[in-house]
Amino acid sequence: MTPRPEADVLYTSDLHGHSGLYREALEIARHYRVRAIVLGGDLAPHADPPQQAKFYRSFLLPLLRDYLAEPGSADVTYILGNDDWKTSGELLEAAGLERIRDAHCRVLPFLDGTQIAGLASVPLTPFVMKDWERWEEGRESLQARLDGFRSVPGGSLTPFDFRGREESESLAREVSAIEAAIPAGARLFCAFHGPPFGTACDQVAPGAHVGSRDVRGFIERVQPVLTLHGHIHESPEISGRFADRIGRTICVNPGQRMGSALHAVTFRVGDVPGTLRHTLRGRAG
Ligand SMILES: [Fe+2]
Repeated sequence: MTPRPEADVLYTSDLHGHSGLYREALEIARHYRVRAIVLGGDLAPHADPPQQAKFYRSFLLPLLRDYLAEPGSADVTYILGNDDWKTSGELLEAAGLERIRDAHCRVLPFLDGTQIAGLASVPLTPFVMKDWERWEEGRESLQARLDGFRSVPGGSLTPFDFRGREESESLAREVSAIEAAIPAGARLFCAFHGPPFGTACDQVAPGAHVGSRDVRGFIERVQPVLTLHGHIHESPEISGRFADRIGRTICVNPGQRMGSALHAVTFRVGDVPGTLRHTLRGRAG
C-alpha cells in the first residue's frame, strides 16, 4: 500500500457548477484528511442570477452542509469569481454556516497561525458580467469590454459602464486595502481569482499573458508564502506548468477542464515547496 501523501489544504478553482467536480473535490479532501478546503472562484454555472441562486440553494449549500457534518471535515474558505453574480453568491454567507468563509477583500486567520487573504476581482475582460471586474491601467489594449451588467438584489441586472469610474473601481485600490490589513510578520496565503501577469499561470496562448499587473505588484511587495489563482483555465496546459515563482512567493493556477477529472492542488502549510502537488500533474518540479 502506498503511503498517504501528506496534505492539509486542498485548493481548486473554476468548477463552474459542475456537480461531479465538487464531489470529486470532497472525495480528495476526505482521502487526504485535509483541514482546509479553498475554492478559488467561479463556483456557479454560467447562468443568470436566479439560476445561480438555485444552484447554491439546491446543490452547493446542501452538499457543504452534509460534508461539514462529517467528523474530521475541513473548513471551507472561498472567493467568488468573475463568472459568479455577486447577489446570488451572497446566499453562501447568508446561510450562516460557521465553517464556510468568504475571504474576498479580507485577511482571515488560516491554519497553524497563518493568514489567508482573498480577492474575487479580476481586470476587465471581453465579457459582460461586471460584478467582479475592476479597472486596471493599460487594459484598454486587451480588447476589454468597458460596459456590461451588474447584479442587483432581487435577481435582476442593471447596465454598468466603467467609463468615468476608473478611480472608484480600481483593482489597485483593492489590493492596497488588502495589503494594509495584513498583520505585521504574517505568514500569508492568498486566494486571488485572477493570476499575476507574466507567469506560467496567466497564458491564453504561448507567451500571451493576460494576468493582472496589480496582483503581480502586490505579490512582489508583500511576498506571500503561496498565492492561489484560477480564471485562465487553459494556462497550465499552455505553459506546461501549474506553478511559478515571483521572488520568494510560489504562485499556482491548477487550471480546469470541464468534463475532465478535477484539477486541484494539495499542500501542507508548513512546507509548501516540499509538498505542493497537482492532482493530475503531480509535483511542481
Ligand atoms: Fe472560470
